[in-house]
Amino acid sequence: MNSYLKLIRNVLLIGIFVLCACQQASKTFMPGELWPDNNGVHINAHGGGILFHQGTYYWFGEHKIEGKAGNKAHVGVHCYSSTDLYNWQDEGIVLSVVEDTTSLIVKGCIIERPKVIYNANTKQFVMWFHHELKGMGYKAAMTGVAVSDKVNGPYTYLKSVNPNKGYWPLNFPDSLKQKEVDMDTIKQWSVEWQKEVVDGVWLRRDMEKGQMARDMTLFVDDDGTAYHIHASEENSTLHIAQLSDDYLSFTGKYVRALEGKMNEAPALFKRGDKYYMISSGCTGWKPNAARSAVADHPFGPWTELGNPCLGSDDEIKTTFQSQSTYVLPVQGKDDTFIYMGDRWTPENAIDGRYIWLPIEFEHDKPVISWFDEWRLKELPGQF
Ligand code: DGJ
Repeated sequence: MNSYLKLIRNVLLIGIFVLCACQQASKTFMPGELWPDNNGVHINAHGGGILFHQGTYYWFGEHKIEGKAGNKAHVGVHCYSSTDLYNWQDEGIVLSVVEDTTSLIVKGCIIERPKVIYNANTKQFVMWFHHELKGMGYKAAMTGVAVSDKVNGPYTYLKSVNPNKGYWPLNFPDSLKQKEVDMDTIKQWSVEWQKEVVDGVWLRRDMEKGQMARDMTLFVDDDGTAYHIHASEENSTLHIAQLSDDYLSFTGKYVRALEGKMNEAPALFKRGDKYYMISSGCTGWKPNAARSAVADHPFGPWTELGNPCLGSDDEIKTTFQSQSTYVLPVQGKDDTFIYMGDRWTPENAIDGRYIWLPIEFEHDKPVISWFDEWRLKELPGQF
């Protein structure tokens, strides 16, 4: 075959390849279905969040393994990248657990709900995550932090803390700071017991060692101030805490929010001049009815808006068999937000699915409905 024919053949082969590749590129969201990455492997980034940086979305989440032990960290935090939110490139494990048994991120610890934010001043990517120590279940209730100069890592683990040690919340009354209560003498979950929880019995207990931090998310406001939002006080109350200018520590300025309401899986986002929170109740790996709330400032006061879900009784009660993890503002498409939820499969953690649904607003209240399949272009709001 002469060189001319070879050239024609090669051009045709490349064209066929490109055509096939384009045809394989997805252009729809299919909540609950397997979601293959660029290698055809179901995305493995659970309980995650997304950072938009220099025109690309980066999805960070818990890498799960097969089987029931998959809810422990045997690998670390996985990262994927995308420019269209449908098709994701595997960027690999960006924070790895270690074999070193003296390390707090030793293989077999618990790393959950990793979120990454970018500090424009230090030019560092900062990851915070819910961290539980190996062999201690969920007792430690710490939050860990890792940093990288590159969005896709590798991230270097710095420390884990119980936040705001020695600091009272900005919205905690002086009259309750010295209150003494023996909770062992009160029937658990009784009205009296719940009142003492709202009045800060666990907050006072943890003042010396630092507060509990379990399910968490991060939020960076328009002015660059970063907030670490986490379930605290035995998961009874959310703490919304300001991070330092380098995003690597807590300033000690924080508030209690939705006291005693047992919120987990917080996802905070801003729409116009309002701050919204979508969260879940506390039922382990089982889904429950989502909650929503609104405020004029991250420090609140927060007003409950109720369950944002519309649909059948089961859909409303289980948030479409999912639990919130993040709310993604779609870049370049005004007033467009995506609810990101996890459909956990603890019996085989690696099979966990992703429930991404558009958030609509009715009288400024977030509303989430089910779609078997949907596309960004079908939503209002101009690209
Ligand atoms: C619910 C939380 O949202 C998850 O992150 C995880 O901690 C499970 N509880 C563990 O039961």
